Amino acid sequence: MAEFEILVLPGDGIGPEVTAEGVRALEAIGARFGHDFRTSEELVGGACIDAHGIAILPETIEVAERADAVLWGAVGGPKWDDPRASVRPEQGLLALRSSLGLWANLRPVTVDPALIDSSTLKPEVLRGVDILVIRELTSGIYFGRPQERRRTMEGRRAAVDSMTYNEDEIARVAHLGFQLARARRGRVTSVDKANILETSRLWREVVEEVRPEYPDVELEHVLVDAAAMHLIRRPADFDVVITSNLFGDILTDEASMLAGSLGMLPSASLGEVREDGRGRGLYEPIHGSAPDIAGQGVANPLAMFLCTAMLLRHSCGLEAEAQALEAAVAAAIGDGLRTADIAATGEAGLSTREMAEAVLERLAG
Ligand code: IPM
Ligand code: MG
Repeated sequence: MAEFEILVLPGDGIGPEVTAEGVRALEAIGARFGHDFRTSEELVGGACIDAHGIAILPETIEVAERADAVLWGAVGGPKWDDPRASVRPEQGLLALRSSLGLWANLRPVTVDPALIDSSTLKPEVLRGVDILVIRELTSGIYFGRPQERRRTMEGRRAAVDSMTYNEDEIARVAHLGFQLARARRGRVTSVDKANILETSRLWREVVEEVRPEYPDVELEHVLVDAAAMHLIRRPADFDVVITSNLFGDILTDEASMLAGSLGMLPSASLGEVREDGRGRGLYEPIHGSAPDIAGQGVANPLAMFLCTAMLLRHSCGLEAEAQALEAAVAAAIGDGLRTADIAATGEAGLSTREMAEAVLERLAG
C-alpha cells in the first residue's frame, strides 16, 4: 500500500468548503485503489492572520517541505483587504511558492463540450479549446525588489515595483514548455511585452536560445496585449503558452472564461521533478476565495477535484487514479449536473455537497 503525506491548507472564503471535498476525493481514491493519504491541516491567509498575526507560520512551511503535496484552498477577503496593511493573506501563498521553489505553474484550460453554453463566448469559438498555460511563479514583478512606497523630492506619494528575470529562470520555463508541447500538439506560444520591457526582451532571447533543442516544436512569440485579444478570438489555436508571473496571472483569469466558469479550473505549482517524474507540488483551484458566496455551501467543487487529480498525477505518480477522478467529474457534467456558476440562467444549481457526492458516486463506479 502506497502512503502519501498531504498538507491541506483551506484558507479563507470558499477555501474550506472546497478543500473538504478534495480530502473526500483523496479518501475515495484511497479506498478504491488501496492507498493511504495522510492529511494534516493548518491555517493560512486571513484565518492565520486572525489567529497568529501572520499569513503562514514558519512551521507550516516546514510541514509543507516534508509533505508529498499541498492542497490549497484560497486566501483573502474583504476583512483583510486594507491596501495599507503590512500583513496580507496573499503573503502566505507567495511565501510557500517561494520556499518550496515552485517555479512552474501549470494551468490547463479545456472546454468540456457539455459546458460549451456556460461560457459567455460563442460555441463556435470554443470548440476544440485545449490550452496549457505555464506561468513562471517564483520571480518577475511578484518578487522583484525594491518594492516599496516612496516620497518624491516634492513630498508626493510614489511607489515602485521591480520586474526582474535572470536567464536560468526563463530557460527552465522554456524547456518545460517545449517538452510538454511534444506530448501535445507541438506548438509553443511565448507571451511577452518585448516592444517595451527589457525583461521581455531577455525572455524572448532566451526562449530563442532554447528553441534549437526542440526542432520538432513550433514556436511563436506574441505580445501580451495581442495574446489577450487572440485568447478570446481564436482560443482553439493555442497549445502550450509560456509566460511570466504577472502576464500568466492575468491571462489565466481571462482564459478561465473559455471554460465557462472560474469554478472549473485547477492549477499545479511544481518545482524540481525527480527522476521518477514526480515532484512536490502545490495544487490550487484558480477561483480564489469568492467571499460573496462563502459559507453558503454553493461553491463549485469541480476545480478542487481537478486539482486533486493533478496532485495524484504529478506528486503521487498515480496516473490511473488521476484519470479515474477526471472521468468521474466529466461523467457528472455529462449527466447534466450543475452548480449555480455553470447552470443555465434561471436554473437552481446543486450545492457543493450534492455536486461532490455526484462525482464521488461515479468514482466508486
Ligand atoms: C493566482 C492568484 C494569486 C496570484 C494571488 C492570490 C496571490 O491570483 O494564483 O492566480 O496572484 O498569483
Ligand atoms: Mg490570479
